[in-house]
Amino acid sequence: MEFFELVKKRRSIRKFDSQKNVSDEQVNKILEAAIWAPSSGNTQCWRFFVVRDPKVKEDIALRACHQTFINDAPVAIVVCADMEHIGRSYGSRGRELFALQDTAAAVQNILLAVADLGLSSCWIGAFDEGKAAKILGLDGEIRPVAILPIGYSNASPKAPPRKSLDEVVKKV
Ligand SMILES: Cc1cc2nc3c(=O)[nH]c(=O)nc-3n(C[C@H](O)[C@H](O)[C@H](O)COP(=O)(O)O)c2cc1C
Repeated sequence: MEFFELVKKRRSIRKFDSQKNVSDEQVNKILEAAIWAPSSGNTQCWRFFVVRDPKVKEDIALRACHQTFINDAPVAIVVCADMEHIGRSYGSRGRELFALQDTAAAVQNILLAVADLGLSSCWIGAFDEGKAAKILGLDGEIRPVAILPIGYSNASPKAPPRKSLDEVVKKV
């Protein structure tokens, strides 16, 4: 798909067809897009957890303010940041800023790849980090940053409006 068309076509989707699977090949393609995101000093502190286990998905959804549509997606990628890794290179700026920027860049690549493959997702940021880490068995230095349920969907919500360029751009 043409890039600018893809950027506008991507939507946050909160309804998935639980009967239609997403293959490992599709997930690998999506993750390949993720690792080609830019990262601070190319440190690549992102870590990806691919969740297919229904019980694990259910537990995560519960800790994500009961956003139960996560259960219907056949797969969820939990994007995490390795805080020790980024901290070693960049200290507190790495831990407080770059870890989030690097993983956010990877998330956006994932969302665009998902849309390009005709799949749907939604960036889930409202979740209990500590509880999600425990469910995934992460140690304290691996910080879950985003949950991305991925699946097929027939939903086609109207695009939420954007502020105009005039409202958000200042030319100096
Ligand atoms: C950091 C972040 C956290 C978000 N968390 C949630 C969430 O927990 N649940 C949800 O349904 N949508 C979540 N969203 C999706 C936004 O609501 C959505 O991107 C926004 O309304 C614009 O809609 P669009 O993605 O379809 O363009 C999140 C988006 C971002 C960037």
